[in-house]
Amino acid sequence: MAMLAAIALSSFVLIATPKGELSLASIKVFPGSSRRLPNVKQDFAFVNFNLSADLTPLFHWNTKQLFLYLQAEYVDSKGVPNDVVIWDSIVRRKEDAVINVMGRNKYVFRDLSRSFRKAQPANYSLRYNLMPYVGVLTYGEAGRSSEPVSFPDPETVS
Ligand SMILES: *[C@@H]1O[C@H](CO)[C@@H](O)[C@H](O)[C@H]1NC(C)=O
Ligand SMILES: *[C@@H]1O[C@H](CO)[C@@H](O)[C@H](O)[C@H]1NC(C)=O
Repeated sequence: MAMLAAIALSSFVLIATPKGELSLASIKVFPGSSRRLPNVKQDFAFVNFNLSADLTPLFHWNTKQLFLYLQAEYVDSKGVPNDVVIWDSIVRRKEDAVINVMGRNKYVFRDLSRSFRKAQPANYSLRYNLMPYVGVLTYGEAGRSSEPVSFPDPETVS
């Protein structure tokens, strides 16, 4: 038990801070409806991002894998803070830990109020969960957009 505790503690202390850069190429909002609620009009946001990060410092002998995710953080029209995961990825090997992704949200991004019109500008952050062989899951942030980004008005679809 004592040894396991020591191992878990040492891997915790060994955690380095990875450096990453995250920029938002474009954000667009389109009106639409979901398959489940076809009669309900709601807005969907599409976020194009450019992400690069070197996560190799997070790979040590006790790293089983990393769960990476991109999170949008904003205060909605009702004043409620929201954290929405819009993209994720799993990194299993140190060889794959240098990440360069130009991508778009993988998961549907919509607001509970069905509109982003009165939402405040969002920050975007790259976060990780480090899953160790021994010990507890640790969390961290590897990058963040440099400034809050406003949601544009919905585009008209002809
Ligand atoms: C994406 O970000 C990286 C690192 O900041 C930069 O070198 C690259 O030019 C960017 N690519 C585009 C298309 O903006
Ligand atoms: C976004 O980041 C700015 C600092 O850059 C901060 O003042 C603001 O509270 C953040 N917004 C949210 C919703 O976290």
